[in-house]
Amino acid sequence: MTDQISTDTIIRARGLKRTFKTRGGMVEAVKGIDLTVERGRIVGFLGPNGAGKSTTLKMLVTLLTPTEGQATVVGCDLRNDPVGVRRRIGYVAQNGTTSPEAKVGLEIVSHAELYGIPRAEARRRGEELLGAFDLDGVWTRTCGSLSGGQRRRLDIVMGLIHRPELVFLDEPSTGLDPQSRANLWSHIRGVRDRLGTTVFLTTHYMDEADSLSDNLLVIDHGKIVAEGTSADLKSRVRGDAMTLTLRSPDQMPGAVAVAQAVAGAGNVQSEGNVLRFQAPNGAMVLPGLIRDLGAAGIEPIGAEVARPTLEDVFLTLTGRSLRD
Ligand SMILES: Nc1ncnc2c1ncn2[C@@H]1O[C@H](COP(=O)(O)OP(=O)(O)O)[C@@H](O)[C@H]1O
Ligand SMILES: [Mg+2]
Repeated sequence: MTDQISTDTIIRARGLKRTFKTRGGMVEAVKGIDLTVERGRIVGFLGPNGAGKSTTLKMLVTLLTPTEGQATVVGCDLRNDPVGVRRRIGYVAQNGTTSPEAKVGLEIVSHAELYGIPRAEARRRGEELLGAFDLDGVWTRTCGSLSGGQRRRLDIVMGLIHRPELVFLDEPSTGLDPQSRANLWSHIRGVRDRLGTTVFLTTHYMDEADSLSDNLLVIDHGKIVAEGTSADLKSRVRGDAMTLTLRSPDQMPGAVAVAQAVAGAGNVQSEGNVLRFQAPNGAMVLPGLIRDLGAAGIEPIGAEVARPTLEDVFLTLTGRSLRD
């Protein structure tokens, strides 16, 4: 890895570490991680609860001082120029920051004032951003009267009011229903596509990471365990998951013999009338397999080829499931 900072690098962190003193002893939340994020990307920071995502984010946005390590964020040194970092980034915390009784407009204007944006300008930008996030007409409503999805979009509007080059979103869709999540994702893509803002988001949802990110960083126990595009990561998993359903369990011995001839003996599992194995290119293997089964007098009633998911990637990398 070269140590040169390309002009397109917007985050570069080296050896970031954070420990917490607790009554039970020292907790090593982040154990020395390196990050390089290119401008204009949507980068997903994926890992299970407790992996160290929020702690990493809080260091990058200057809310927590690293125990060790250094970072440059939008051209500013984290330790020497935290004010410079803060001015150039947006940060949307895991639980949002709007208070339920406050009026949306006032919340936006007073947040903008922190960045020295005059009230009239704040109102103009606020109304424009609300429109872009399908929140027209909420200016005089209270934040607490918005739906979960609307409130989360408002959080993002607040994070963008000072036109940052880079926005950090901590678990943007946690707690939302599937429809609101899909809607939020299209707005997050819009932030990058329409405003050109680089997006760095954390998530423990594989589907969110998969759907949104150009690049993924996978974190577990405070360490980066993999990085690349979703396709890169999936190609590391050994093969597709093949599932065949037979008419009856009586056919299983014959079917296992046929599958073993195709897939190798150690790889075939059976349970009742369902047979499973891994194959490097499942779609290519399937027709021959069905033909060989037919020759043995066995006609499956179901056949499925599943491409690896990010869940399989995580399982392969860590031996554990990403699910809570
Ligand atoms: N202020 C703190 N004091 C003590 N331990 C903490 C503190 N913040 C986070 N941790 C611990 O650090 C680890 C990482 O937490 P966090 O960064 O919030 O994970 P994630 O956002 O990936 O769920 C967890 O074990 C958590 O309990
Ligand atoms: Mg978190």
